[in-house]
Amino acid sequence: MTLRVLEDPARLAAAAAREFAARAARAIRERGRFAVALAGGSTPRAAYELLARDYVDEVDWGRVHFFFGDERPVPPDHADSNYRMAREALLSCVPAGSVHRIRGELAPEEAARRYEEELRSFFAGEEVPRFDLILLGLGEDGHTASLFPHTRALGETERLVVANPVERLGTVRITLTPPVINAARAVVFLVAGGGKAKALREVLEGSADPRQYPAKLIRPGDGEPLWLVDRAAAASLGKG
Ligand code: 6PG
Repeated sequence: MTLRVLEDPARLAAAAAREFAARAARAIRERGRFAVALAGGSTPRAAYELLARDYVDEVDWGRVHFFFGDERPVPPDHADSNYRMAREALLSCVPAGSVHRIRGELAPEEAARRYEEELRSFFAGEEVPRFDLILLGLGEDGHTASLFPHTRALGETERLVVANPVERLGTVRITLTPPVINAARAVVFLVAGGGKAKALREVLEGSADPRQYPAKLIRPGDGEPLWLVDRAAAASLGKG
């Protein structure tokens, strides 16, 4: 695990954009393509907008293949759609090689089944698909992607994508599972704001059950994940 504390959300977004571009260049150099799963929520938006504004010529976008770490059970034009946020901030601005959205308009189980099929087809021949990069956020309750505390998806060991009922939200989310996230060559968390300070300390320094703080389940190894956090989110670190 690697932790970098940035002064504020703007510097966090800039660092995230630089990481994205560097990992894209490396993957394209080594394997001819860059397969990345985007995080949803609000934190990553600024980084996506920076990529669309400042990296148009820096990244070989035609070799970038976009996926998503999770999706809400809504159509692609819905205000809550992670795909819509990414499309507005980045995907409509760059000539991506391909975009693979989770079809939130379908019944969640069907959406998860189809997405798993799409992953297996894109990563043909790999027992567990290895993304070059998975971007993740952190919820105030310690969730990441749509791996929420004490939900069924936390224990998944076979499936790559599942429909995960989240009682607290009264909904079913579609999410990548821990095995496929932990198989990634790189995982980068983006965490901003004082509201995340307690969860971040618990995930990075606490001894609570991972089922209570599911981001603890993300252990890709080889120095991953990289945590890019702002000073407000880091406020409780190292305070016992
Ligand atoms: C989602 C995300 C989720 C998000 C965290 C943090 O669909 O909402 O996948 O895991 O990353 O909830 O969200 P914010 O960045 O909005 O704080």
